[in-house]
Amino acid sequence: MVQEQRPGGFARRVADIEPFRVVEVLARATELAAAGRDIVHMAAGEPDFATAGPIVEAGRAALASGATYYSQAAGIPQLREALSQFYADEYGLDISPRRIMVTPGASGALLLLSSLLINPGDGMLMTDPGYPCNLHFLRLVEGRGQLVPVDAGSNYQLTPELVAANWRDNTVGVMVASPANPTGTVLDREELSALSREVRARQGYLVVDEIYHGLGYDAPTPSVLEVDPDAFVINSFSKYFGMTGWRLGWLVAPEAAVEEMEKLAQNLFISLSTMAQHAALAGFEPGTREILDQRREIFRQRRDYLLPAVRELGFTVPCAPQGAFYIYADASHFTSDSQAFCLQLLEEQGVALTPGLDFGHYRSQQHIRFSYTTGLERLELAVSRLAAVLR
Ligand SMILES: Cc1ncc(COP(=O)(O)O)c(C=O)c1O
Repeated sequence: MVQEQRPGGFARRVADIEPFRVVEVLARATELAAAGRDIVHMAAGEPDFATAGPIVEAGRAALASGATYYSQAAGIPQLREALSQFYADEYGLDISPRRIMVTPGASGALLLLSSLLINPGDGMLMTDPGYPCNLHFLRLVEGRGQLVPVDAGSNYQLTPELVAANWRDNTVGVMVASPANPTGTVLDREELSALSREVRARQGYLVVDEIYHGLGYDAPTPSVLEVDPDAFVINSFSKYFGMTGWRLGWLVAPEAAVEEMEKLAQNLFISLSTMAQHAALAGFEPGTREILDQRREIFRQRRDYLLPAVRELGFTVPCAPQGAFYIYADASHFTSDSQAFCLQLLEEQGVALTPGLDFGHYRSQQHIRFSYTTGLERLELAVSRLAAVLR
């Protein structure tokens, strides 16, 4: 009896949490590369650039000076202050360091927030396609991700109308990302403001994942905090700051949540990587910012090359990605099985892409994601290889 309730002998929640489908593509890519094939990697969700030199140096120096102990659960004060200054400089916002919690990646922030906001059975509205782990963090705390299919009609984002149409009795809030993964679309200030009004009117929580801020290419990427001081913001050192492997992110919460969040952070994490936090401080130095901004320009050039090239290949990309480093392409001319299609392109052309299945259910078999996290020449090579079979 107990066995029946416990698939595989483990807790039921585990069966509801899906693995990344792209792992199969990546594993095969590794095998093919080991056998001597040249693989163009366009499946990764991380910058190809190594962490900037000054950040690495600061990490080394921190280790040498003994930063090997636990530090404060909410982050070292210097880093919280640096982040507060970052909000002043980048957005003209006055955010007290008290409201900023450093976390183990945006992933740690998502775990913390799910724990803070969700009672068993509570639902949060989120886009489909979207970042898949959000759904799973909610499942972990016995909540429900309420997926709202989105398409070009709403720039792949939630709108007040979609929120109103999909809000249910158990819905407690809305989670969006801007720029979004996998679509790269951005919510402008008016859109954030309208979303905030709708959520507030329902006394819900608004959570905005701003992890791809700093990687916007066309218009500004406003923070939701410019229009709603009570929103919860998730961010990270992984993407713009290029520190994926250091595992450092942050969360901005309303003052009323600070005490409870600190309590949760103490229990869940005790501390963040002390060394990584000292390293991250160097990310705010002007010399480092210059390197990071140059990298943003490189990403922009790649997008400007790849977007028309992908369309030329026969994929449909109705909304130009305005940020992040992804293109979410409709591949329905070619397939109705995105996983098999990605494996085939890998096998035959040596190009690794991510199946849409990793981002939800809505037309995910007809979509694939291109990451432009490799150099322009490699992108050109991938396009010429794909052209050989697709055109
Ligand atoms: C939208 C989004 N949120 C959160 C994360 C988690 O990032 P990290 O834990 O490295 O900060 C990712 C990673 O790809 C992401 O794309």
